[in-house]
Amino acid sequence: MVIAIDGPAGAGKSSVARALSDELGFTYLDSGAMYRCVAAAVLMRDLDPGDPESATAVAESIEIDFDWDRISLDGDQVDQLIRTPEVTEAASRVSVHPGVRAALVTEQRRLISRGRYVAEGRDIGTVVSPESPLKVFLTATPEERARRRALQTGGDADQILLAQNERDRRDSEREVGALRVAEDAVEVDTTDRSLDEVVAVIAGLARGRGLA
Ligand code: DC
Repeated sequence: MVIAIDGPAGAGKSSVARALSDELGFTYLDSGAMYRCVAAAVLMRDLDPGDPESATAVAESIEIDFDWDRISLDGDQVDQLIRTPEVTEAASRVSVHPGVRAALVTEQRRLISRGRYVAEGRDIGTVVSPESPLKVFLTATPEERARRRALQTGGDADQILLAQNERDRRDSEREVGALRVAEDAVEVDTTDRSLDEVVAVIAGLARGRGLA
């Protein structure tokens, strides 16, 4: 069973999903990290992230493992590598390919079938697990999302906003697994709310639905 936390980059999904999984005693799944692993593997092999065939072949052949917060790619720890700006950009590009998405969605379904998960991403409630009993769509204004990213990375908020707009466009315009609000999702705007407040709202929903 999975609680789905979807939304655009910088809406607070990772912090919220991590804290919520701790609070409820569920396992946390960061689906974005899997797209980042595909992108890192594509770059390591000197392939083009824009080429669907090679990116799909990579997605179908790599091994991604989660050990709590640690992510390994073919046996190597890649937690820092997958957060670099190069991999962030390439992840946005590989994630438009239907073959890449099919490979990762299959793996995500296999993982979440094994227990109680809080999974964050773009298409958890719409594609990976449409039967999820609690779907949350987190939002925040683009400016606030860029401001948070700038605080985390020390980058310039205006430049981050431009790159973020481009990734938002790819996220919402791709043909498969586009970012959209599931019909039965609860929308939560995190712009003026603290992490604790957001987690409390979602934990309350989960308990109210008898999930925890
Ligand atoms: O959430 P994130 O920034 O770590 O995601 C990295 C990239 O992967 C981002 O460009 C969107 C994409 N992604 C996706 O297409 N589907 C998901 N379920 C999760 C992430």
